[in-house]
Amino acid sequence: MSETQNIQWFPGHMAKTRRKIKEILPLIDAVAEVVDARIPVSSRNPELKSLIGEKPLIILLNKCDMADEKATEEWIKYYKAEGVTAIALDCKTGKGINLFKGTVKTALADRLKYYAEKGMVGKPLRVMVVGIPNVGKSSFINRIAGNNKAKAENRPGVTRGNQWFTIDKQLELLDTPGVLWPKFEDKTVGEHLAFTGAVKDNIIDTELLAMRLLELLKNTAPEKLAARYDGLDLSGDGYDLLCEVGKKRGMLIRGGETDTERAANMLLEEYRACKIGRITLERV
Ligand code: G4P
Repeated sequence: MSETQNIQWFPGHMAKTRRKIKEILPLIDAVAEVVDARIPVSSRNPELKSLIGEKPLIILLNKCDMADEKATEEWIKYYKAEGVTAIALDCKTGKGINLFKGTVKTALADRLKYYAEKGMVGKPLRVMVVGIPNVGKSSFINRIAGNNKAKAENRPGVTRGNQWFTIDKQLELLDTPGVLWPKFEDKTVGEHLAFTGAVKDNIIDTELLAMRLLELLKNTAPEKLAARYDGLDLSGDGYDLLCEVGKKRGMLIRGGETDTERAANMLLEEYRACKIGRITLERV
């Protein structure tokens, strides 16, 4: 069985992205970071804060339809206490999308006031949208921009090839120039991304991954776990839990033992499909 810390994650080529973000930074007013509401810590890029410096940050807790509602509220409060605005989104249905424009305008009220004072009425706010792969960044941009994809060549001072979207007269969005990677070196981050399906299963041994998920679910959502698997006895460790889950579903091999590989695949699939419930794996 392979150990997660020995896994070769795909290389974190951040240098190119770092350079591109630095280039674009003077042209933008704020950054909107899309994160997965189920794992708001592991789905962030650890370098972003230092990269963007003083630019206001708005956090978009996406996939909130799959996260625990109360936990999402707690995260929003937590960010607020840190001086960061956060909103909950479900880009699959569009829920929460209509909050975005107002949130940006509130977060950048000083800038709007400054534009008004300088007679620069009509100058749009420019927000760069960032996010590690699979958090739903494209879904968010598609939802909010629809077909309003603007042509980069029409914008003086803006590098060609950057993806700008005109949302309305007062707001323009820029898709991240480059790929922003998560903190793959961190074993917990890697596991949490694998639980949600943000990274491929075959990077980590499936059974090991399922055992780790069961241990985490035992702590974060014991009632939901027990309810899904027919009164599952939660007293054992990850391996015991996996065997029990398999047994409950009749996944047995000769000798009455559990087919742990089958059970592991089923468990991961059910967590990702939200069948165990709306569960936030990382709490404030
Ligand atoms: P990215 O640009 O950040 O890489 O992510 P992308 O928008 O491609 O979304 C990744 C997956 O997450 C997609 O599913 C997308 O449908 C799903 N997704 C995005 N936002 C939400 C959300 O708010 N709630 C839920 N439940 N899912 C969301 P997929 O399986 O890769 O594709 P598909 O099923 O949409 O075809």
